Order: sequence, then structure tokens, then C-alpha cells
Amino acid sequence: MEALGALGAVGAGAALLLGLYALLHYYLGVATRCRNAVSLRGKTVLITGGNSGIGKATAVDLARRGARVVLACRDKARGESAVYDIRRESGNSEVILMILDLGSLNSVRAFAQSFLESEPRLDILINNAGVFMTGQTADGFDQAFQVNHLAHFLLTHLLLDRLKRSAPSRVVTVVSSMHVFGKIDFQTIHKPVEGIWKAPLSYGNSKLANILHVRELANQLEGTNVTCYAAHPGAVRTEIGRSIPWWLHWSFSFMQLFSRDCDAAAQTSIYCATEEGIERLSGRYFVDCQAKVPSPQARDDQLAKKLWEFSERLVGLTT
Ligand SMILES: NC(=O)c1ccc[n+]([C@@H]2O[C@H](COP(=O)([O-])OP(=O)(O)OC[C@H]3O[C@@H](n4cnc5c(N)ncnc54)[C@H](OP(=O)(O)O)[C@@H]3O)[C@@H](O)[C@H]2O)c1
Ligand SMILES: *[C@@H]1O[C@H](CO)[C@@H](O)[C@H](O)[C@H]1NC(C)=O
Repeated sequence: MEALGALGAVGAGAALLLGLYALLHYYLGVATRCRNAVSLRGKTVLITGGNSGIGKATAVDLARRGARVVLACRDKARGESAVYDIRRESGNSEVILMILDLGSLNSVRAFAQSFLESEPRLDILINNAGVFMTGQTADGFDQAFQVNHLAHFLLTHLLLDRLKRSAPSRVVTVVSSMHVFGKIDFQTIHKPVEGIWKAPLSYGNSKLANILHVRELANQLEGTNVTCYAAHPGAVRTEIGRSIPWWLHWSFSFMQLFSRDCDAAAQTSIYCATEEGIERLSGRYFVDCQAKVPSPQARDDQLAKKLWEFSERLVGLTT
């Protein structure tokens, strides 16, 4: 009798846990889908880090809409294998690879030059590549700061005339809700830090910088028909945690219990890239295909302008 009671209690407990998991999974895992059927025939899309995760899922969708898709990736073999997959999944053969390593500003300049020489249009730029790690780049900056923010800042600048000439055109930058943990300290934000435990801070800072970049860019682009958006994908099962040590993997695995897949996570990027009529929301932060309010620092126009000028100096556009 007692054994049966215990069994019942265990059963009820298990059912409760399962229900709780289903509920959490529903709220965190089920993304709002981008429902428009906008065609991108005749348009050119450039996606950084399009060989994996959210970028790859975004590339498949935009290729299905008929766009010419350029993947900007650092690794030739991984890039080529993604091009193969994306062509097969989308049925669009106009998917090509160009090499870009955001960890090197010279690579960004060389990439922009060859892109401008070979591609007459740029309708949609998706600043998607990102790292969650610490350490130093070839240029001596913090990895997350440079790869996530500074290199995309320079890339966007170098491609801006082509975007203007192709207007109406768009820039979508993939950001994160983790920007709320970030802060912009001009004494330290660009300086490399060591130790993986500092990665969440570095990452948060870089994602805050991304949102501020989008904000100031929108101000500067007013009246040009080039608009820009910051898109948060939600928590996603991707390879972004690859550089965290094995003994910390459990924390990522635990979070991944509640995360969505890449196709679901790509929806907000796709929405910002294609949805008609959102131009008046240029410069805003989007979650689940809706404009949302980011942290107070991410809405600070003065800070956005200061970060812009700081970034210009770091990449050598001004002295
Ligand atoms: N996963 C999440 O839960 C989550 C949440 C919020 C925001 N995000 C954001 O989503 C974006 C995409 O990340 P993901 O989750 O899809 O991760 P992912 O699967 O690791 O993809 C990141 C992409 O960035 C590329 N990349 C990294 N460093 C690069 C460099 N130096 N030069 C050129 N490309 C580089 C990677 O190329 P390789 O394959 O060569 O490394 C890869 O293609 C990032 O901006 C990330 O911050 C992710
Ligand atoms: C922006 O688009 C509108 C509507 O198509 C057009 O009338 C206007 O001339 C465009 N402006 C620029 C600067 O291209």
C-alpha cells in the first residue's frame, strides 16, 4: 500500500515536471514565425557567418525567396559545404561563398573591395557572425568586441554606398538579450580580456555595442531609404558555445533544453530583412518579429554617437 502511494507521488511529481518543461519550452522555444511571402528575386543578400547556426537558416530562407545569397565566411571548407547544403535545401543555385575573417580588419577591407568589384548590388546586409569567447584578435582588440561589433561597423561603412545605390535596402544586425548585462566603458571595452568566465561580460558589451550601432546608423540614414534593424533570435541550439571549456558544457546543455532550433531563431532576422512597412521602425530592437524596448543604455542616443566616433577612430576612419 505504502509502496503504491510512493509510486503515485513519484508519478505525480514527474507529470508536474514534464508539464513545467512543456510550458517553459512553449514560451521560450516556440518562436513567432515570419509569415510574409515577399519575393527577393533580383536582389542580393550578404550574410556574415552564413555557414552555421542562425546565419545558415536565414540564408536558406532568403535563397528560397529567390535572392542571390553571398555567404561571408572565414573558413573555405566550412563555407563550401554550407553553400552546397543551402543550394540543395533552397533549390537556388545562386548561393556563393566569399572569404571574410572578422578577426582581421585587413580581411574586412579586402573582402569589401572584392565584393564591390564583383557584386553590382547589395539589397540586404545581415551582420550575423558572432563569437562567445575571450582573447585577442590579429588587430589586438578583444575578440567579441571586434568580431561582433567593430568589424561589422567597418564592413557596414565600406558597403554603405552600394546599399544606398540599391535602395530601398536594409541592414539587419543579429544582437542578443544579453545586451542587458553589457556596458560601454571607453577605457576598457576594446581591450582583450583573458579567461572564459569573462566571456559573458565581453559578449554582453559587444551586443550592446551592436544595438547602439544600429541606433546611430538609423539616425544617419534618415531620408536615404536604407533602413536598419537589431534582431534578437532568442536562445538557440547552435555552435556558439564551442569555445567554452568542456566542464562548463553542462550549463549550455541545460539552457539548450529550453531553446529553439535555428530555423525558429532565424525568423526575426528574416522578418527584419523582408517585412514590408516596417521602415518607420528603423533603428529599433526586434524580438519575435516585434519591435521591443531594449535596456536603457541601448536607447541612449548620446552614447550611440560616442561609440560611433570611438569605433571610427579604432578602425582608422578618423584620427
Ligand atoms: N545561440 C544563441 O543562443 C544566440 C542568442 C542570441 C544571439 N545570438 C547571435 O546569433 C548570431 C549567430 O550565432 P549562432 O548562434 O548561429 O552561432 P554559430 O553557429 O557559432 O555561428 C556563428 C557564425 O559566425 C562565424 N564567425 C565566428 N567568428 C568569425 C570570424 N572571425 N570571421 C567570420 N565569421 C566568424 C562562424 O564561423 P565558423 O563556423 O568559421 O566559426 C559562424 O558561421 C551571433 O551574432 C550571436 O551572437 C545567438
Ligand atoms: C525614397 O523612396 C521614395 C519612395 O519610393 C522616393 O520617392 C524617394 O525619392 C526615395 N528617396 C531617395 C533619397 O532615394
